[in-house]
Amino acid sequence: TTGRTLAEELLDWYDRHHRDLPWRISPSMAARGIRPEPYHIWLSEVMLQQTTVQAVKAYFAKFVARWPTIDALAAAPSEDVMAAWAGLGYYARARNLKKCAEAVASLHGGRFPDTEDGLRSLPGIGDYTSAAVAAIAFNRPAAVMDGNVERVISRLFAIDAPLPGSKPAMKTRVAELTPIDRPGDFAQAMMDLGATICTPKRPACALCPFRGDCRALDGHDPERFPVKAAK
Ligand code: ADE
Repeated sequence: TTGRTLAEELLDWYDRHHRDLPWRISPSMAARGIRPEPYHIWLSEVMLQQTTVQAVKAYFAKFVARWPTIDALAAAPSEDVMAAWAGLGYYARARNLKKCAEAVASLHGGRFPDTEDGLRSLPGIGDYTSAAVAAIAFNRPAAVMDGNVERVISRLFAIDAPLPGSKPAMKTRVAELTPIDRPGDFAQAMMDLGATICTPKRPACALCPFRGDCRALDGHDPERFPVKAAK
């Protein structure tokens, strides 16, 4: 709106309205150069795939209490990890979690690689998780895209091309918007905005930091986006 970039508008909103989550550090801590624990970010991001934030909180607390480090998780019996995962669903994720912990422990001395490519080389870590951990844990300028981010971007730019074909173009948009100084906060802010303001139904556009810039709102029908290919 007033000559500020979209990222600046979003980050101002995030500084005031970010969600306090057990694996997060606050934006003011991040501004002092403090980074969150990569193990915590990786664990929470794997759990958050297909599971709500609310449900993940208790599982996250249970896992870090029982296995405080990635080396501890790597050394745990598989049956214990699978039993602790029970209720989260998608058990392939739990098996991959264990495999990834073993790889980090044995191949990397218990420290996660600090780049997107290094992270993607680990078992069970794909495009989403490698970008999320690179951005949030290591403040690397990775473009993080999930369903929430796709909704925000498709509305902001009124993208008429349907998902899933429009994903690469959306990712380019995210990369262009990502600020070099705060990529981790930017990624988390986009996800919080999608989860709390830019919701699938009845988005709270009056409260949105992008309300002066959003082409879908300008066209009076944000709910039309993202467009999905006919099944
Ligand atoms: N959903 C998945 N990952 C998230 C994150 N880091 N912040 C907010 N919502 C999320």
